[in-house]
Amino acid sequence: MQTAEDILAEVLVSEAQLRQRVHELGEQITRDYAGQDLLLLCILRGGVMFLTDLMRQIRTPHAIDFMAISSYGVGARASAGNVRVILDINQSIENRHVLVVEDIVDTGHTIHAVLALLAARQPASLKICALLDKSSRREVEVPIHYVGFDIPNKYVFGYGLDVDEYYRNVPYIGVVKPEVYLKPEAE
Ligand code: PRP
Repeated sequence: MQTAEDILAEVLVSEAQLRQRVHELGEQITRDYAGQDLLLLCILRGGVMFLTDLMRQIRTPHAIDFMAISSYGVGARASAGNVRVILDINQSIENRHVLVVEDIVDTGHTIHAVLALLAARQPASLKICALLDKSSRREVEVPIHYVGFDIPNKYVFGYGLDVDEYYRNVPYIGVVKPEVYLKPEAE
């Protein structure tokens, strides 16, 4: 199997940049949620590394929980109406301050569906914290309250993001070489 270095075209966000920005987000969230009942709700699986680093930078007491979302249909890409919850939380969020933690917002369909589902459960507040924002790809408007980095439309991996489920452990955000995902012409 190819190593992360084999598939890497360029480092888009370095470990040092990630550490600095996650620290800044943690400081901001600490200030914004001081004295409130905060629940960090991580969307599996990509958000995990971001969550565990972010929560260590948040200096106000908070709880964590996890949801898993799946897209189905042709090519399994998220689009309107084909987003499904495959793991839900089993605690009430009523009157609690919920901050959804995501690795990346791309078309916006996943977070749009998550927001609709959670809003119906009457939290005190409901906000989004996304490490990466591919804003140029947006198909549905979603409010993102905390953004780590706005990134170009490139296939990225690492720091929780996968290439066919591998390489999530890579400590930086890298761009995948095109030859890794472009199939050769049929002979
Ligand atoms: C990724 C990412 C978001 C979603 C964003 O998850 O973690 O949940 O896609 O895309 P969208 O804005 O176009 O809906 P993915 O389905 O790859 O699952 P994973 O987190 O398990 O890798």
